[in-house]
Amino acid sequence: MRARPSRLDRLPEQYFASLLARVTEAAARDGEPLVDLGRGNPDIPPPRHVVEALQAAARRPDTHGYAPFAGLQSLKEAIAARYRDVYGVELDPETEVAVLPGSKTGLIEFAQVCVERGEAIVLPDPGYPDYRSAVALTGARHVPLPLLADGRPDWDAAPAEAAALYLNYPSNPVAACAPEGVYEEAVEWAKRAGAWVLHDFAYGDLVFDGRKPSSFLTVDGALETGVELFSMSKSYGMAGWRLGFALGNAEVVARIEDLQNHQFAGVFRPVQEAGVAALTGPQESVEERRALYERRRDRALAALRACEPRGEGTFFVWFRLPDGLTCERLLDEHRVAVAPGEGFGERGRGFARLSLATPDEPLDLGLERLSDALR
Ligand SMILES: Cc1ncc(COP(=O)(O)O)c(C=O)c1O
Repeated sequence: MRARPSRLDRLPEQYFASLLARVTEAAARDGEPLVDLGRGNPDIPPPRHVVEALQAAARRPDTHGYAPFAGLQSLKEAIAARYRDVYGVELDPETEVAVLPGSKTGLIEFAQVCVERGEAIVLPDPGYPDYRSAVALTGARHVPLPLLADGRPDWDAAPAEAAALYLNYPSNPVAACAPEGVYEEAVEWAKRAGAWVLHDFAYGDLVFDGRKPSSFLTVDGALETGVELFSMSKSYGMAGWRLGFALGNAEVVARIEDLQNHQFAGVFRPVQEAGVAALTGPQESVEERRALYERRRDRALAALRACEPRGEGTFFVWFRLPDGLTCERLLDEHRVAVAPGEGFGERGRGFARLSLATPDEPLDLGLERLSDALR
């Protein structure tokens, strides 16, 4: 047999798959039932009218063939209208919107269409582990960019030249919302460094304490510099449906559509039609979901107050592990799983991430166990 192509060997360990395997193995051992606060999988379903739109579309005989590869025009118009109404950004649905089978796909595609082998991709540290998969599959070079205490990149540590920068606010795992001026700083740095910017806005609507969602595309120069990824997974609880968007720079959008024309054959039409229903129908569920996570966040901050917890947005809380306490000990001795910080980058060592995408009862039990462990 021929050897595996080296690009597969370059892939980092899939952090969430390994975490799940460790937690499953611990759960099978004797003891109290384990509480899993490690995984970020939305626990609230999409609103009923969205599910009904999917059902109605799936019942029609004309929705089962190939959908237009680049996505439905009505869906592109619906997301552009949401960007105008909610985030104050004007986009041309024809040229500045690409439909993605989930925004995770866009994380990989962006690097493939913007970066040559061997070029540098700058990633936040700590940051979402799948960005490193994009670096590996492109054969690029990973340059970690440390995040400061307020979640802002330490621009002094950024390289003078790079092909691309990934940014993520509200950020997974550190749960920071975009600090004042950070998008302007990113545009300025990117222009100097000759880099494209990808802003991952997967948790855009999940912001707390009266903050307003803040899109990268609102700042001057953003449209020339890069794209933003929007996900239907978190705002509408549609994670399993696989629907997202790349929005912004028309050249990058066209390149992504070009790549997708070769790689995929569009998103199932009923999913796209239900996406239109989600984006254009009643929006109360977005606020209800946000408020539910905020209430859970409040309880988590109270339980973890001795550990410098942070939770300005997303459905995660990031906290410092006291000396001597590890995620392994929490798992084995206290039967509660959280995500070890080092899986998100070197700067995450000594921290952990807790997920609020957990129904109230197990969440509260898990928080009780964490409080006991921290005592
Ligand atoms: C920071 C971040 N970006 C992107 C994604 C991918 O989202 P999706 O592919 O469901 O749109 C996730 C999913 O958990 C995430 O946490």
